[in-house]
Amino acid sequence: MFGLNRKNFAIMDATVGDHASIADLHGLNFARGWTTSEIDKLAEQSNTFVLVARTVGEPDAPVLGFNIVRHTPQEAEILSIAVDQRGRRRGLGDALMREAILRLRADRISNLLLEVDIENEAAIKLYEKLGFETIAQRPGYYDKKDENGLRAHTSALVMSLSLG
Ligand SMILES: CC(C)(COP(=O)(O)OP(=O)(O)OC[C@H]1O[C@@H](n2cnc3c(N)ncnc32)[C@H](O)[C@@H]1OP(=O)(O)O)[C@@H](O)C(=O)NCCC(=O)NCCS
Repeated sequence: MFGLNRKNFAIMDATVGDHASIADLHGLNFARGWTTSEIDKLAEQSNTFVLVARTVGEPDAPVLGFNIVRHTPQEAEILSIAVDQRGRRRGLGDALMREAILRLRADRISNLLLEVDIENEAAIKLYEKLGFETIAQRPGYYDKKDENGLRAHTSALVMSLSLG
């Protein structure tokens, strides 16, 4: 599955059958996991779409990545995005973001927002490459454990991309 080059994956809408593997991937990447039924509920909302990256020709394999996006008529927000650790640096995160941006532009939504941990260099670099700019900082926003298992707080950057 993970001998991927940049061409043998595709971005598409998640199916209900993908939600368990999205929940698994979410749980591996974020301190507060989301259950399959939380993903089911999100995906049912008409103002939310869930994209997945999958290996071409492997429709039943676990997803390689996901991007969950919520929007109003004016503005959208990345709720969560992650790529399987074994599939990183192959353009999947970029492709998941670009597909979301294309769809939001087609719907004439003018702005895309997200929050990211100030220590998350990979994600910040990805967003900057796509043209996002930092518009605010939320000190102590994330509640985490440091390398010694002690409680720690890090700031969030609020980043914005104009889609106009
Ligand atoms: C952030 C994340 C989604 C990126 O996914 P990815 O598929 O590895 O990213 P891509 O291969 O599409 O990389 C696109 C660009 O992002 C930047 N980037 C990605 N990972 C990077 C890293 N580890 N270090 C520095 N830059 C990085 C680079 O500019 C890269 O372009 P390049 O490969 O041409 O240099 C992935 O690291 C991830 O799932 N992280 C854990 C979950 C997470 O933090 N989500 C974001 C929460 S806000």
